[in-house]
Amino acid sequence: EADLESKLPLKGKKILITAGPTYEAIDPVRFIGNHSSGKMGFDIAKSAANLGASVILVTGPTHYVINHSLINVVKVTSAQEMYDACHDCYNAVDVAIAAAAVADYRPKNIAQQKIKKTADNFVIELEKTKDILLSLGEAKKHQFLIGFALETENEIENAKAKIRKKNLDLIVLNSLQDEGAGFQKTTNKVTFIDKDFKTEPMELKSKEAVADDILNKVIAHFYE
Ligand code: CTP
Ligand code: CA
Repeated sequence: EADLESKLPLKGKKILITAGPTYEAIDPVRFIGNHSSGKMGFDIAKSAANLGASVILVTGPTHYVINHSLINVVKVTSAQEMYDACHDCYNAVDVAIAAAAVADYRPKNIAQQKIKKTADNFVIELEKTKDILLSLGEAKKHQFLIGFALETENEIENAKAKIRKKNLDLIVLNSLQDEGAGFQKTTNKVTFIDKDFKTEPMELKSKEAVADDILNKVIAHFYE
Protein backbone atom coordinates (compact mmCIF):
# COMPACT_ATOMS: atom_id res chain seq x y z
CA GLU A 1 0.00 0.00 0.00
CA ALA A 2 3.01 2.24 0.43
CA ASP A 3 3.45 2.47 -3.33
CA LEU A 4 -0.04 3.91 -3.72
CA GLU A 5 1.13 6.93 -1.77
CA SER A 6 4.44 7.14 -3.63
CA LYS A 7 2.51 8.11 -6.83
CA LEU A 8 4.02 5.13 -8.67
CA PRO A 9 1.30 2.64 -7.79
CA LEU A 10 1.99 0.53 -10.89
CA LYS A 11 5.74 0.25 -10.36
CA GLY A 12 6.85 -3.30 -11.16
CA LYS A 13 3.68 -4.09 -13.16
CA LYS A 14 3.93 -4.98 -16.83
CA ILE A 15 1.15 -3.79 -19.15
CA LEU A 16 0.48 -4.78 -22.76
CA ILE A 17 -1.46 -2.18 -24.75
CA THR A 18 -2.64 -2.44 -28.36
CA ALA A 19 -3.23 0.74 -30.34
CA GLY A 20 -4.05 2.11 -33.77
CA PRO A 21 -5.53 0.54 -36.87
CA THR A 22 -4.29 -2.49 -38.75
CA TYR A 23 -3.61 -2.46 -42.48
CA GLU A 24 -4.54 -5.56 -44.46
CA ALA A 25 -2.73 -5.83 -47.78
CA ILE A 26 -4.60 -6.11 -51.07
CA ASP A 27 -1.52 -5.94 -53.29
CA PRO A 28 2.00 -4.48 -52.88
CA VAL A 29 0.70 -0.88 -52.88
CA ARG A 30 -2.82 -1.09 -51.42
CA PHE A 31 -4.50 -2.08 -48.19
CA ILE A 32 -7.77 -2.08 -46.26
CA GLY A 33 -7.56 0.11 -43.15
CA ASN A 34 -9.63 2.34 -40.89
CA HIS A 35 -9.58 5.84 -39.42
CA SER A 36 -8.21 4.96 -35.97
CA SER A 37 -5.58 7.57 -35.00
CA GLY A 38 -4.02 5.48 -32.23
CA LYS A 39 -4.42 8.33 -29.76
CA MET A 40 -6.43 6.41 -27.17
CA GLY A 41 -3.86 3.60 -26.92
CA PHE A 42 -0.91 6.01 -26.84
CA ASP A 43 -2.57 8.07 -24.09
CA ILE A 44 -3.15 4.88 -22.05
CA ALA A 45 0.52 3.93 -22.52
CA LYS A 46 1.67 7.36 -21.34
CA SER A 47 -0.59 7.31 -18.26
CA ALA A 48 0.51 3.77 -17.37
CA ALA A 49 4.21 4.64 -17.66
CA ASN A 50 3.74 7.82 -15.62
CA LEU A 51 2.28 5.62 -12.87
CA GLY A 52 5.42 3.49 -12.94
CA ALA A 53 4.26 0.58 -15.09
CA SER A 54 6.50 -0.96 -17.69
CA VAL A 55 4.58 -0.87 -20.98
CA ILE A 56 4.68 -2.88 -24.19
CA LEU A 57 2.79 -0.78 -26.74
CA VAL A 58 1.91 -2.87 -29.81
CA THR A 59 0.75 -0.39 -32.40
CA GLY A 60 -0.51 -0.43 -35.95
CA PRO A 61 0.46 2.42 -38.31
CA THR A 62 -0.02 5.85 -36.69
CA HIS A 63 1.80 9.19 -36.79
CA TYR A 64 2.26 9.24 -33.02
CA VAL A 65 5.72 8.86 -31.54
CA ILE A 66 6.39 8.26 -27.89
CA ASN A 67 9.66 8.49 -26.00
CA HIS A 68 9.56 7.13 -22.49
CA SER A 69 12.08 4.88 -20.77
CA LEU A 70 9.25 2.64 -19.52
CA ILE A 71 7.51 2.23 -22.89
CA ASN A 72 8.67 -0.35 -25.41
CA VAL A 73 6.99 0.35 -28.78
CA VAL A 74 6.43 -2.63 -31.07
CA LYS A 75 5.33 -1.51 -34.52
CA VAL A 76 3.14 -3.85 -36.55
CA THR A 77 1.07 -3.55 -39.71
CA SER A 78 -1.47 -6.37 -40.00
CA ALA A 79 -3.83 -8.05 -37.54
CA GLN A 80 -1.74 -11.23 -37.79
CA GLU A 81 1.43 -9.32 -36.84
CA MET A 82 -0.40 -7.68 -33.93
CA TYR A 83 -1.64 -11.10 -32.81
CA ASP A 84 1.90 -12.53 -32.87
CA ALA A 85 3.41 -9.55 -31.01
CA CYS A 86 0.74 -9.76 -28.29
CA HIS A 87 1.19 -13.48 -27.72
CA ASP A 88 4.99 -13.10 -27.63
CA CYS A 89 4.71 -11.14 -24.36
CA TYR A 90 1.31 -12.12 -22.93
CA ASN A 91 2.58 -14.64 -20.37
CA ALA A 92 4.92 -12.01 -18.93
CA VAL A 93 2.35 -9.23 -18.43
CA ASP A 94 0.05 -8.46 -15.50
CA VAL A 95 -2.47 -6.41 -17.49
CA ALA A 96 -3.52 -6.27 -21.16
CA ILE A 97 -5.56 -3.43 -22.66
CA ALA A 98 -6.86 -3.83 -26.23
CA ALA A 99 -7.41 -0.34 -27.62
CA ALA A 100 -6.53 -1.17 -31.23
CA ALA A 101 -9.08 -0.94 -34.04
CA VAL A 102 -8.18 -4.30 -35.53
CA ALA A 103 -9.52 -5.07 -39.00
CA ASP A 104 -12.22 -7.74 -38.77
CA TYR A 105 -11.56 -8.95 -42.34
CA ARG A 106 -8.61 -9.15 -44.68
CA PRO A 107 -8.24 -10.00 -48.37
CA LYS A 108 -8.19 -13.77 -48.73
CA ASN A 109 -5.44 -13.56 -51.34
CA ILE A 110 -2.79 -10.86 -51.62
CA ALA A 111 -1.87 -10.11 -55.24
CA GLN A 112 1.87 -10.44 -55.80
CA GLN A 113 1.86 -7.60 -58.36
CA LYS A 114 -0.02 -4.30 -58.41
CA ILE A 115 -3.55 -5.01 -59.63
CA LYS A 116 -4.20 -3.35 -63.03
CA LYS A 117 -7.51 -1.58 -63.74
CA THR A 118 -8.76 -3.92 -66.43
CA ALA A 119 -12.10 -5.18 -65.09
CA ASP A 120 -15.08 -2.78 -64.87
CA ASN A 121 -16.25 -4.41 -61.66
CA PHE A 122 -13.83 -5.82 -59.18
CA VAL A 123 -14.59 -7.96 -56.13
CA ILE A 124 -12.14 -8.64 -53.32
CA GLU A 125 -12.90 -11.74 -51.31
CA LEU A 126 -12.34 -11.20 -47.58
CA GLU A 127 -11.76 -13.63 -44.73
CA LYS A 128 -11.96 -13.05 -40.99
CA THR A 129 -8.83 -12.00 -39.15
CA LYS A 130 -8.00 -13.59 -35.80
CA ASP A 131 -9.73 -11.89 -32.88
CA ILE A 132 -6.71 -10.92 -30.79
CA LEU A 133 -8.65 -9.99 -27.66
CA LEU A 134 -10.70 -13.20 -27.81
CA SER A 135 -7.46 -15.21 -28.00
CA LEU A 136 -6.03 -13.30 -25.01
CA GLY A 137 -9.21 -14.08 -23.07
CA GLU A 138 -8.86 -17.77 -23.93
CA ALA A 139 -5.20 -17.82 -22.87
CA LYS A 140 -5.84 -15.76 -19.71
CA LYS A 141 -4.22 -16.94 -16.47
CA HIS A 142 -3.36 -14.19 -13.98
CA GLN A 143 -3.81 -11.24 -16.35
CA PHE A 144 -6.30 -8.41 -15.79
CA LEU A 145 -7.85 -8.07 -19.25
CA ILE A 146 -9.48 -4.90 -20.57
CA GLY A 147 -11.21 -4.57 -23.94
CA PHE A 148 -12.96 -1.83 -25.81
CA ALA A 149 -16.29 -2.03 -27.61
CA LEU A 150 -17.59 0.17 -30.37
CA GLU A 151 -21.34 -0.16 -30.82
CA THR A 152 -23.99 1.84 -32.65
CA GLU A 153 -27.06 -0.03 -31.34
CA ASN A 154 -27.96 -2.04 -28.20
CA GLU A 155 -24.71 -0.69 -26.81
CA ILE A 156 -24.87 -1.99 -23.23
CA GLU A 157 -26.23 -5.43 -24.15
CA ASN A 158 -23.67 -5.93 -26.93
CA ALA A 159 -20.83 -4.80 -24.67
CA LYS A 160 -21.93 -7.22 -21.93
CA ALA A 161 -21.96 -10.04 -24.49
CA LYS A 162 -18.37 -9.13 -25.46
CA ILE A 163 -17.29 -9.30 -21.80
CA ARG A 164 -18.50 -12.91 -21.57
CA LYS A 165 -17.41 -14.01 -25.05
CA LYS A 166 -13.87 -12.65 -24.65
CA ASN A 167 -13.47 -13.47 -20.93
CA LEU A 168 -12.79 -9.82 -20.00
CA ASP A 169 -12.46 -8.22 -16.57
CA LEU A 170 -13.55 -4.81 -17.82
CA ILE A 171 -14.86 -3.31 -21.05
CA VAL A 172 -14.68 0.32 -22.15
CA LEU A 173 -17.73 1.03 -24.26
CA ASN A 174 -17.24 3.86 -26.74
CA SER A 175 -20.31 5.92 -27.54
CA LEU A 176 -20.38 7.25 -31.08
CA GLN A 177 -23.78 8.77 -30.43
CA ASP A 178 -22.29 11.84 -28.80
CA GLU A 179 -20.73 14.59 -30.85
CA GLY A 180 -17.04 14.66 -30.10
CA ALA A 181 -16.42 11.01 -29.32
CA GLY A 182 -14.52 8.35 -31.19
CA PHE A 183 -12.23 8.07 -34.18
CA GLN A 184 -10.05 11.06 -35.14
CA LYS A 185 -11.29 12.96 -32.10
CA THR A 186 -9.42 14.12 -29.03
CA THR A 187 -12.37 13.42 -26.73
CA ASN A 188 -14.22 10.27 -25.78
CA LYS A 189 -17.52 9.39 -24.09
CA VAL A 190 -17.19 5.97 -22.51
CA THR A 191 -19.07 3.66 -20.19
CA PHE A 192 -17.19 1.17 -18.03
CA ILE A 193 -18.78 -2.26 -17.53
CA ASP A 194 -17.04 -4.76 -15.28
CA LYS A 195 -17.27 -8.55 -15.26
CA ASP A 196 -20.14 -8.40 -12.75
CA PHE A 197 -21.90 -6.05 -15.20
CA LYS A 198 -21.54 -3.04 -12.89
CA THR A 199 -22.11 -0.19 -15.34
CA GLU A 200 -20.56 3.25 -14.94
CA PRO A 201 -21.27 5.95 -17.55
CA MET A 202 -18.56 8.61 -17.68
CA GLU A 203 -18.71 12.23 -18.80
CA LEU A 204 -17.43 13.32 -22.21
CA LYS A 205 -13.75 14.11 -21.61
CA SER A 206 -10.34 14.24 -23.24
CA LYS A 207 -8.75 10.93 -24.21
CA GLU A 208 -5.96 11.72 -21.72
CA ALA A 209 -8.56 11.90 -18.95
CA VAL A 210 -10.23 8.68 -20.17
CA ALA A 211 -6.80 7.03 -20.09
CA ASP A 212 -6.36 8.13 -16.47
CA ASP A 213 -9.80 6.71 -15.61
CA ILE A 214 -8.81 3.37 -17.17
CA LEU A 215 -5.55 3.26 -15.20
CA ASN A 216 -7.50 4.04 -12.02
CA LYS A 217 -9.48 0.84 -12.67
CA VAL A 218 -6.18 -1.04 -13.01
CA ILE A 219 -4.87 0.46 -9.76
CA ALA A 220 -8.13 -0.45 -7.99
CA HIS A 221 -7.69 -4.05 -9.20
CA PHE A 222 -4.28 -4.31 -7.57
CA TYR A 223 -5.03 -2.42 -4.34
CA GLU A 224 -8.58 -3.49 -3.43
N1 CTP B 1 -10.36 -6.87 -31.28
C1 CTP B 1 -9.21 -7.64 -31.42
N2 CTP B 1 -9.00 -8.35 -32.58
C2 CTP B 1 -9.89 -8.31 -33.59
C3 CTP B 1 -11.07 -7.52 -33.47
C4 CTP B 1 -11.26 -6.81 -32.28
O1 CTP B 1 -8.38 -7.68 -30.50
N3 CTP B 1 -9.66 -9.01 -34.71
C5 CTP B 1 -10.57 -6.16 -30.01
C6 CTP B 1 -10.54 -4.64 -30.10
O2 CTP B 1 -9.24 -4.16 -29.86
C7 CTP B 1 -11.49 -4.23 -28.98
C8 CTP B 1 -12.48 -5.38 -28.89
O3 CTP B 1 -11.86 -6.48 -29.58
O4 CTP B 1 -10.83 -4.16 -27.73
C9 CTP B 1 -13.83 -5.14 -29.47
O5 CTP B 1 -13.73 -4.70 -30.79
P1 CTP B 1 -15.07 -4.41 -31.60
O6 CTP B 1 -14.74 -4.05 -33.01
O7 CTP B 1 -15.94 -3.50 -30.79
O8 CTP B 1 -15.80 -5.84 -31.55
P2 CTP B 1 -15.66 -7.14 -32.42
O9 CTP B 1 -15.42 -8.26 -31.46
O10 CTP B 1 -14.68 -6.98 -33.53
O11 CTP B 1 -17.13 -7.36 -32.98
P3 CTP B 1 -17.97 -6.40 -34.01
O12 CTP B 1 -16.98 -5.52 -34.75
O13 CTP B 1 -18.70 -7.36 -34.88
O14 CTP B 1 -18.89 -5.61 -33.11
CA1 CA C 1 -14.66 -5.20 -34.98
